[in-house]
Amino acid sequence: MPQPHLRTVVVLAAGEGKRMRSSLPKVLHPLLGRTLLGHVLAAAEPLAADRTVVVVGHGADQVRAHLTEVAPGASPVLQERQLGTGHAVRIALDALPDTAGTVVVINGDVPLLRPQTVAAFVEAHESAGAAATVLAAEVPDPTGLGRIVRDVQGRLEQIVEERDATPQQRALREINAGIYAFDLARLREALGKLSTDNDQGEEYLTDVFALLRDAGEPVAVHCAADHVETLGCNDRVELAALRRLLRDRVNEGWMRTGVSILDPHTTWIDVTVSVGRDAVIDQNTQLQGVTSVGEGALVGPDTTLVDTVVAEGASVVRSHAVGAEVGPQASVGPYAYLRPGSRLARKAKVGTFVETKKASIGEGSKVPHLSYVGDATIGEHSNIGAATVFVNYDGVRKHHTTIGSHARTGADNMFVAPVRVGDGAYTAAGSVIVADVPPGAMAVARGQQRNVDGWVLHKRAGTDAAEAARRAGEDASDSGAPASEGD
Ligand code: UD1
Ligand code: MG
Repeated sequence: MPQPHLRTVVVLAAGEGKRMRSSLPKVLHPLLGRTLLGHVLAAAEPLAADRTVVVVGHGADQVRAHLTEVAPGASPVLQERQLGTGHAVRIALDALPDTAGTVVVINGDVPLLRPQTVAAFVEAHESAGAAATVLAAEVPDPTGLGRIVRDVQGRLEQIVEERDATPQQRALREINAGIYAFDLARLREALGKLSTDNDQGEEYLTDVFALLRDAGEPVAVHCAADHVETLGCNDRVELAALRRLLRDRVNEGWMRTGVSILDPHTTWIDVTVSVGRDAVIDQNTQLQGVTSVGEGALVGPDTTLVDTVVAEGASVVRSHAVGAEVGPQASVGPYAYLRPGSRLARKAKVGTFVETKKASIGEGSKVPHLSYVGDATIGEHSNIGAATVFVNYDGVRKHHTTIGSHARTGADNMFVAPVRVGDGAYTAAGSVIVADVPPGAMAVARGQQRNVDGWVLHKRAGTDAAEAARRAGEDASDSGAPASEGD
């Protein structure tokens, strides 16, 4: 059995990305759930590399911090000055002890690469025993990219950057995608011979190909079936175009697994999200981060979910949720805002113009209208009246409110925390509840109503209100009914 190849992945991420015009390093710009760099690292994952090196430079601290978060196994190597892609790889290899194996180099700004494409590319390189292989693609518009120049036999002759190319070479539409596989020993040797004799005065990694070929080494071109995967990102217009392409890819994937996406053009699902069968995602919806949507759930229209779990059969309509959990068959919205720590149990309801935070709402319990529920536990099958505020903040600290099960709280209540309402208790509309309510009690905490009869006739004489009151008095005396009695 031949020894399996030692595989090293080198991701180039030291460039500034000038054309992004950003204080954020280019490779840290987000694209549907991962940074550009995160996408590249994810695409390389199936290679099961023995080591992964990321060349950092511009914004090195930011990029390093990001790596600790998303790829703690990867080692950053600092390229202090960005003297070209060849220079970057040389620095990466200088930090490696290995003398043999495969080195896969990927530009940090090619985020649509599919893992299976990268894997097939590396397999092809290794099984051909090539010294170097480049991934190429035929693109409709090669502007700004390195061109693959072939000899009369169709073999790779060189890779030439657009700015160094002859008009004839510029007309070529086969481009260098920015991903390469090399035999480590031969790469090391060739890197030592790179010149800076080009328009940018940089050491180009791409020049390794002509060097190896001239030395009689086998170099190869591997063509990507789908050129979209090879699209790079150099400015924000390109980033937006990549985002649309990735959106379509992700949406298509979910639709093929049995998810209904009613308007794929306005549905943006991060690559980190999961969606169950028969879920329906309505228009203008964003599913972000570690969000999951269960089977048969309905999400949207006009909804954003960030790091939120929506269980099977639940519905979330025209709402915004961050760090929330929506239980099976629970319902949210329209127009709800679930903030971190909101947990709705099975069949719970958070209705219209309701905001929740660190709130646990038990099975079948409802907060249907116009309320704020913060730092609260609500038991099962309780109903919170409209326009209720859980007064959780005393200006210094946050306090907790507990409402029991089967409670019925009146409309327009304030629960001044810390406070507890027992199981089966009621509270009267308009109450400000500052003291615990025992189970089964009815709490009334509001001023006694007093009617000052005839006040408007005396104090607002001559107004439309007084005239209306006078007519009502006449009508009442005509019918013999007492004026003050209501129904
Ligand atoms: C590069 C290729 C080009 C190819 C294109 C594909 C070279 C010389 N050219 O051009 O043939 O068609 O990618 O997208 O390689 N970087 C460093 N250190 C440096 C310079 C660059 O780490 O000193 C990193 C950048 O952060 C980036 C990657 O290398 O992630 C590519 O650099 P970039 O400047 O984008 O090269 P392109 O001009 O796009
Ligand atoms: Mg680039």
